[in-house]
Amino acid sequence: MEDTAAREAWRDDPWLGANPFDPAFRDDPYPALARLRTVDPVNETPIGIFRLTRYDDVVRMLKEVPSGVRMADGTIFGEVPIDGERSEFILRMDPPAHTRLRKLLSHAFRPRAVDRLRARVDTLVDELLDRVEEKGSLEVIADLALPVPSTVICEMMGVPLADRDRFTQWTTATTHLLAGALTPPEVLERGKTAVMALREYFEVLIAERRRTLGDDVLSDMIRAEEDGDRLSPSELISNAMGLLVAGFETTIGLIGNGVRALLRHPDQLALLRADPGLIDGAVEECLRYEGPIVLTIRVTREDTRFGDRTIPADRPVMCMLAAANRDPAHFADPDRFDVTRRDVDHLAFGGGAHFCMGAHLARMEAREAIGKLVQRFPRMELESERAEWGASLFRVLGRLPVGLRG
Ligand code: HEM
Repeated sequence: MEDTAAREAWRDDPWLGANPFDPAFRDDPYPALARLRTVDPVNETPIGIFRLTRYDDVVRMLKEVPSGVRMADGTIFGEVPIDGERSEFILRMDPPAHTRLRKLLSHAFRPRAVDRLRARVDTLVDELLDRVEEKGSLEVIADLALPVPSTVICEMMGVPLADRDRFTQWTTATTHLLAGALTPPEVLERGKTAVMALREYFEVLIAERRRTLGDDVLSDMIRAEEDGDRLSPSELISNAMGLLVAGFETTIGLIGNGVRALLRHPDQLALLRADPGLIDGAVEECLRYEGPIVLTIRVTREDTRFGDRTIPADRPVMCMLAAANRDPAHFADPDRFDVTRRDVDHLAFGGGAHFCMGAHLARMEAREAIGKLVQRFPRMELESERAEWGASLFRVLGRLPVGLRG
């Protein structure tokens, strides 16, 4: 599959035209990822980390071959300790801690628990859209994509909604710590300050909640801690913060990117408007086509063969979810946005042991928000073709102004 012409063109670019830390990459990573998948599908980057871009390889890495998130010495590739402390968020843990945490947290995200929230989300979306109608203008992120997931996660966790504006900024800044040492120093500094602010915030909230436990996820986590010491105080803080961040930022990305994709494909939007029953498939297609998380990292536990290359044991590997989701060997005509696609087994929520715990919740929120928006405002149009990305590490829009045409 060696494409010598393209290789020659990238002779001076060790990232082969697809540097995930280049701001230009975020704007439209797909052409660069497609070339990388053709030219060097199992690619060793200039920073010693490998990249997988084919769907089957990414699935094997996430689900089938022995792998983890920590290196053999217990560290995480690129992780920067803050105030000497390392995150114990579930996403950063391997078994047995990961298995224990997953069991402890999972009941809050079970389909039945999420279905109980549907009526609340339904009312919330209606109220938000009423406001849009009253003011006669729409900025999809501030008016819909941000308030839906942030209200839901605050209410679920028992975090006061009045504090939302403060931690919207913190949660955005902390996402960069996932790339840690690979981010520019000033971005890293902002991330560290935000983590310390969030830590302080949760320390106060947890102390208050210990005095009056309620019917929320934070109280459940405290009970689990007290009940046989199954969640240590540092695990409690890390996971409360992690859930808040995970629940916010990504779902803003799904709703925002999804609405933008629909507005850029009026034929698909028309299909969805004509048949609201297509909304479930449409949300899956939005996740496949423009999912907010481009990549995730795993570490090999043993020498592992992918195609004609062997990745040695204990090497970090970027699983390029965005590339896998547009792999023509798996999806027919992958660059076509098609809300009628069936059985879209995309990897936008990852896969294997760390498969997203909030997937059911995010899908439900997106179906309600996108489904109602497109029915309520039939004459929407993008105000600009240019995407205005937000300040987080993920592919999440910061603003999406839309005209309502009367
Ligand atoms: C569209 C929205 C979302 C997307 C695209 C998304 C994506 C992902 C991905 C790709 C992973 C796996 C990362 C890895 O394997 O390294 C993940 C894990 C996770 N997500 Fe989400 N997520 C979304 C929404 C949510 C929500 C709403 C919550 C919770 C309220 C949530 C909580 C989590 C948690 C706790 C994990 C870690 C699971 C584990 O380590 O076992 N996510 N998510």
